[in-house]
Amino acid sequence: MFSSRGISIKLPENPNPQPLKWWQSEIIYQVYPRSFMDSDGDGVGDLKGIESKVDYIADLGAGAVWLSPIYESPMKDFGYDISNFTNIDPIFGTMDDFLSLATKLREKGLKLVMDFVPNHSSDLHVWFNLSVHRQEKYEDFYVWKNASGYDSEENPIVPNNWVSFFGGSAWEWNEIREQFYFHQFVAGQPDLNFENPEVLHEIPAFLDEAEDPNRPPNSIPTDYSYWSHIYTYDLPATRDSLADFRKLLDTYQVSDGKERCMMIEAYVGSLDKLFLYYGTKTKPIAHFPFNFEFITRIKSGFNGTDVENIVNEWFEKMPEGNMADWLLGNHDQPRIASRFGSELVDPFNMLILLLPGSAVTYYGEEIGMTNTNLTWEETVDPPGCQAGPERYQLFSRDPERTPMQWNFEKNSGFSTGDSTWLPINPNYKELNVQAQNETNGDSHLKVYKQILSLRKTDTWKYGSLEAYALENGQGFGFARIYKGSGFIVLANYLDGDMIINVGEHFKDIPDSAMVYTTSVNFQPEMSVGSFISTKSVTIRGKHSIILTFSKSENEKKNDTWVWTIVRQFLKFYI
Ligand code: GLC
Repeated sequence: MFSSRGISIKLPENPNPQPLKWWQSEIIYQVYPRSFMDSDGDGVGDLKGIESKVDYIADLGAGAVWLSPIYESPMKDFGYDISNFTNIDPIFGTMDDFLSLATKLREKGLKLVMDFVPNHSSDLHVWFNLSVHRQEKYEDFYVWKNASGYDSEENPIVPNNWVSFFGGSAWEWNEIREQFYFHQFVAGQPDLNFENPEVLHEIPAFLDEAEDPNRPPNSIPTDYSYWSHIYTYDLPATRDSLADFRKLLDTYQVSDGKERCMMIEAYVGSLDKLFLYYGTKTKPIAHFPFNFEFITRIKSGFNGTDVENIVNEWFEKMPEGNMADWLLGNHDQPRIASRFGSELVDPFNMLILLLPGSAVTYYGEEIGMTNTNLTWEETVDPPGCQAGPERYQLFSRDPERTPMQWNFEKNSGFSTGDSTWLPINPNYKELNVQAQNETNGDSHLKVYKQILSLRKTDTWKYGSLEAYALENGQGFGFARIYKGSGFIVLANYLDGDMIINVGEHFKDIPDSAMVYTTSVNFQPEMSVGSFISTKSVTIRGKHSIILTFSKSENEKKNDTWVWTIVRQFLKFYI
């Protein structure tokens, strides 16, 4: 059923290309503000720091910067607990700093994407205080519920068994209102009640949730993953609220003509469910939901067949007219290098950035940063802290949030302070931006920039897609062709050699193609710019290569020797 001949052309060439929207073609670079660049030496990244690195982001070839939340916050969930949605937290700077950053980004032609968190506020938000005191209008702003009884010591008993995403009960007692409030995340993040009658309809009886029959074997009842979240998660009413947000954005767009894009984070567990978050033509929701399916399914132990299956499934099921999205790194997910090994950083960047669709790069993935092992004492992320010293490593997201590794200097150039909010990964002495920029040899950063320039071509924008698992799942390859020219990406994910006769798998690829770029220290060695036979391409374990070809292949071939001499010459003098 999943033979490599399952579907051949997944996407036809676009005969009538319309310009893509910026969010469909440009890379969105995700900055976790606490960890990107610290300008004042307090050990926490800030807006001025980000501003000082805008040139770096522009130089990568990215088109937009997404800032994780920078609003006023007591930082119980590091900015995702917002106490004022309309101001900047002093740890990050001032409104003027924000405007100055926005101006700098605009000057560089970069868009700014703001992270908005509608599910909850901080318990220090003024709304919560008003709700605690049952002030008119605010009384039902949050989800309040009476105790289901009192124990022998007069302690209130929670309304039901619902567990927070971060572990432990999702109910917190409020002494003043003498009721429990509901929080999906930490207790300092009470869930907003969208005053939607359907929400109430969905959870009329506040019934207990049942054990999840597919729960991980080592999970315990205080873990979120232990239960089946049928009353608290992925509710139709949530999509209705999101559709209302979208309506509002579209209304603004009609009135001022400025284009807006809504991307959303929905961890829902299957593509069928995820696609509901695109909405429909008459009731649109997100322009795209982040594809956490890809991240979570393509784990270690994956192979080319797994990749092929998810790519197939995506293109078979995606509602017409939408874009795919191939998110692979994020502030809530282990880094690529730590999930798959650093050798596979280039193969994965080639895959997610060159398949058709929107793409996000989480800061540091362009240099292949790794997760950082932290001790229990160093742990600050709430789900890690909540899990305790024995189990924090199962839940903490600190390892993928450590500061950006810029150079060889103190704190890797991130901060001049004596300590940083999370430790710098000791591997910064080898792994940093400066090292990868200045090396005479290959680097992840150089490969990344090459990939991004390919994304700007018409082939990437409008070309067809043909994709297969190769050699019984040892690797994966895909070709994009537009008007006879194109590129092909071949990746070997496992250890042994893979020898590919490209024409056996893919249509319309000439017998000879140019080496456009390769994974770092590609084996067997091949020089970029040279032409090779596509009839037998050897790729050693954990390597990948991109070949380009054009209609006027023969004319190009005649130029090859000139190109090769120029390259050798440049190599010699640089
Ligand atoms: C989102 C964020 C995550 C945060 C959570 C709760 O899922 O990605 O980092 O902890 O919201 O605010």
